[in-house]
Amino acid sequence: MTTFASAHPNIALIKYWGKAPGPGNVPAAPSLSITLDSLATSTAVDDATEDTFELNGRTTEDPKLAACLADLRSKYDIPPLAIRSTNNFPTAAGLASSASGFAALVTAVDAHCALGMDAATRSVFARRASGSAARSIFGGFVALDGPAWVATPLLDADAWPLHVVIAVTAAGPKPVASSAGMRRSMDSPYYPAWVSSTHDDYRAAREWVASRDFAGLAELAEYSCLKMHGLMLASRPGLLYWNGATLACLHRIRELRAAGMPVFFTVDAGPQVKAVCLPQASEAVRAALADLPGVIQILEAGLGGGARLERS
Ligand code: PMV
Repeated sequence: MTTFASAHPNIALIKYWGKAPGPGNVPAAPSLSITLDSLATSTAVDDATEDTFELNGRTTEDPKLAACLADLRSKYDIPPLAIRSTNNFPTAAGLASSASGFAALVTAVDAHCALGMDAATRSVFARRASGSAARSIFGGFVALDGPAWVATPLLDADAWPLHVVIAVTAAGPKPVASSAGMRRSMDSPYYPAWVSSTHDDYRAAREWVASRDFAGLAELAEYSCLKMHGLMLASRPGLLYWNGATLACLHRIRELRAAGMPVFFTVDAGPQVKAVCLPQASEAVRAALADLPGVIQILEAGLGGGARLERS
């Protein structure tokens, strides 16, 4: 019997970039995200004679996936599994495919093997595989903070229905994976300031979300994003995830906001730009980004729900 689960990527508005010392893949600072709806990872799990993993139809060796299964097996009795995952969006290009991937995987394995995990437990296992994956267990606005470093939902998707227009500016995988990039940034002289100030940003963002203050959240989310990229640039060698089209999108979004449109940007460890807006602005934002040179595809999403079992 095959078990199917799915999860959506999430986009951090207060960014996670850097790990606490020691085991368990613990973030150095809290983060806050929105979970998307139309982008998704679907994962099928079956019994097998040995572990196999297929991503988008291709058999793949994935050390992070093997480590996640080993982590689950340190606590639960889990037989060899055949795992098949499909993303309906570009993989490993700064669109949080590892977040939706591990959230769907842990949810599918939990259901397939009847492990009886609650959402918080799934969030912790997902976090140990990929920090941002902890947040994709839940929908809407989601926080990830200590001391337990388990994600918690802040607001449901329909409580403040924002819209996200994603400008894809490069197709391939990113040049430096996030874990390696974080290790590099942790040696930057900017790193201690990044960690301490992110705690303050996180507290303020929770207030803007609770009061649904778009202008406050817009200013703070751009600040967190640009500060993270400032830290990335001030690593050695510098991490430069943007291309020319990325920068053109950021300028265009700032122009739109200066003209009164409710929109702000965020960019992760890749060249794609996520424009977060109120729903009434989405068509104008899409049109403004689609005609920029170097924008090769526009994806759109609203806010969505958490990881879920589809059928078994
Ligand atoms: O959890 P990881 O290893 O995919 O790292 C996520 C890093 C960022 O996407 C840049 C920020 C974030 O909080 O999602």
